[in-house]
Amino acid sequence: MTFDAPTVIKAKRDGNRLSDDAIDWVVDAYTGGDVAEEQMAALLMAIVLQGMDADETARWTAAMIASGERLDFGDLRRDGAPLPTVDKHSTGGVGDKITLPLVAVVAACGAAVPQASGRGLGHTGGTLDKLESIAGFTASLSNHQVRQQLRDVGAAIFAAGRLAPADAKLYALRDVTGTVESLPLIASSVMSKKLAEGAGALVLDVKVGSGAFMKSRPQAEELARVMVRLGDAHGVPTCAMLTDMNAPLGRTAGNALEVAEALEVLAGGGPPDVVELTLQLAAEMLQLARVDGHDPAQTLGDGTAMDRFRALVAAQQGDLSVPLPIGRCSETVIATRGGTMGDIEAMAVGLAAWRLGAGRSRPGEQVQPGAGIRIHRRPGEPVAAGDPLFTLYTDTPERFGAAMAELDGAWSIGDTPPARRPLIIDRIGS
Ligand code: URA
Repeated sequence: MTFDAPTVIKAKRDGNRLSDDAIDWVVDAYTGGDVAEEQMAALLMAIVLQGMDADETARWTAAMIASGERLDFGDLRRDGAPLPTVDKHSTGGVGDKITLPLVAVVAACGAAVPQASGRGLGHTGGTLDKLESIAGFTASLSNHQVRQQLRDVGAAIFAAGRLAPADAKLYALRDVTGTVESLPLIASSVMSKKLAEGAGALVLDVKVGSGAFMKSRPQAEELARVMVRLGDAHGVPTCAMLTDMNAPLGRTAGNALEVAEALEVLAGGGPPDVVELTLQLAAEMLQLARVDGHDPAQTLGDGTAMDRFRALVAAQQGDLSVPLPIGRCSETVIATRGGTMGDIEAMAVGLAAWRLGAGRSRPGEQVQPGAGIRIHRRPGEPVAAGDPLFTLYTDTPERFGAAMAELDGAWSIGDTPPARRPLIIDRIGS
């Protein structure tokens, strides 16, 4: 059977199921450059609008995995004993720097974390963009380096590269074509690189709320179930935590700002929500990896997680003695009345950070490592008239207007604290 892109695009546009062969062909041909970017953009938009059923999603994921190499850490040993591997992946949020302290905590507790990561997507930040704000840091690791680092340090965070290369192309295209918000595309993107990466178990952080790609709980639950099924079908024990993404996590959104906040957490401080989620996800990861007898919280208190993070950065040629960059220009929003900070819309903060230069609007664009937003008053905190509420940073001050416009109406000061929402909403899977 021979295929061509226009026929596949029209089939999905008209609401038809794509055959296994058509999926295999289009993913392979796109990865190899035989389907043009504009053709894949059209197909992605058709998928956003028409969806894919469970079998199509599973086949699309398998085709993405088959586009590249697969790592296997089944034989990894440290001091003669098998070294369990486990990873986590977030579906994307605002201020979501959890990966940075989390991999260090889990490594300090004795499991190894091979983490194939991505760059920013839409209004959400990407782990690689954050880490690359550290002077010298490289996310390009050979398979040999990843194995070595897992043994020596207990964690490696790297660009997926040869793993699921179809995802790298699709991810970059989705980021700039308004085709991110699709359950099958998110599920296949996450699971293709995570299954190719070869971790022994997987914890998914499925964000739900205004700042997430899944706005409602039923949508997020469905995404979680689809991904857990994909993981289990590939023999990788997988569970998903549904976590709140109505407000930004912590007090920062933007690459270097988030690294600085992660370092605060690793030093035993940092915002309580970032600490809570880090510790909860660490506990889930250690349980799935069957590593017990360790207290993740202790690793933040006694510096062992910080040691692992520093070792990871050093192994990847980063230099934490060089000050993290900060945008050359700043503007601060000041409270005009006193009271209590109300809810802060995560989406608005994410879009404002993106407009300041923390994310991309064209494929391959350089992000500004020092661009972003510092949140001085979190929801529920007291505010006095004249207090700073948000500071915006960028190297390009002409961006302030659009960023301020995103924040307009996205926060309020009231007389009573906003209703408290649980950060961790549910758990789905093994
Ligand atoms: N994370 C991914 O890796 N892919 C998505 O599509 C969304 C979040």
